[in-house]
Parts: sequence; structure tokens; C-alpha cells
Amino acid sequence: MSAKSFRNVVEESASVVTDENASLYDQLGGDPKMKLFIDYFLDGIMADQELACYHQKFKDPHQMEILKFKLLNFFKWKLDGAPFYIGTPMYEAHKNLGITDEVFDAASAVFTSQLRRIKPKMKVFREFVQRVG
Ligand code: HEM
Repeated sequence: MSAKSFRNVVEESASVVTDENASLYDQLGGDPKMKLFIDYFLDGIMADQELACYHQKFKDPHQMEILKFKLLNFFKWKLDGAPFYIGTPMYEAHKNLGITDEVFDAASAVFTSQLRRIKPKMKVFREFVQRVG
């Protein structure tokens, strides 16, 4: 088994908090599950020719690492796992990139299909999609 797939097995089995009072972030499985999802999400984005072309600079592994770090913090905040996000608001970050509705829809489809792969509870899945969308 490769190091990457071994890590995925470990992270897929990361403990998901079942307490309904826990934050949605912890109910998803916290940092380990979120990191796994972000890996899947960005693999999906970079595998799509149209989406990848907007992400040229993220072919540099260091830039990709920074983006993943920002996404982790952004999603953590969205799911009540952090009190704030200190990065650029979504609208600001994307407003000058010329993203059409079709391209945004394609990215959203990658988001939901990759999110299903980490098998979140239905409530967590719905809230996550709604809060990010
Ligand atoms: C599910 C939809 C999306 C989410 C959740 C998302 C999220 C984010 C976040 C959190 C950042 C970092 C913002 C910061 O600097 O603090 C970012 C940056 C970026 N996003 Fe997205 N994004 C989405 C869709 C897209 C789409 C559709 C494109 C283009 C096809 C795109 C291209 C980019 C690029 C190029 C950056 C880097 C901007 C920069 O460094 O100045 N994103 N995105």
C-alpha cells in the first residue's frame, strides 16, 4: 500500500464525533477528515481541465499547500470549528477571476461529489454544502 493510500485509510477512519451538541466540524471528523476532503476536492479541481486552468499557480506544491491551509481554515470556520476566518472573503477572493456561473457550478459539483467520498452524516453534508454555496 502506498504512503498516500495508507494515510487515507487512517484518516477515513478518524473518529467522527456523534454528539449532536458538538460543532458540525467535529461531527464531520475534525482536522483529519477535513484535510482528506480538501485533498480530494483539489485533486478533483486539478483533474478538470477547465477548472485547473484557473489554478495554474497551484501547480507549485508550495502554493498548493498554502491554498489547502486557507481552505482548511475557511471550512473550519464555516462549520463552527473556529470563531473567525482571517483570509480574504470568498467574494473578494474570486471577483476578479472572471468565473462564469457554469464554471462555478462545475466546481460546486466537484465539491459535493468529493464530499460524499468522506461519508459525512446527512445533516453535516447538507449544512456544509449550504453554508459554502
Ligand atoms: C466551491 C467553490 C469554491 C470555494 C469553497 C473556494 C474557496 C476558496 C478560498 C477559501 C480561497 C482562499 C481565499 C483567501 O485568499 O483567503 C480561494 C482562492 C482561490 N480560488 Fe476558490 N473557491 C471556490 C471556487 C473557485 C472557482 C470556481 C475557481 C476558478 C475556477 C476558484 C479559483 C480560486 C483561485 C484562483 C484562488 C486564489 C486567489 C488568489 O490567490 O488571489 N475558486 N478559493
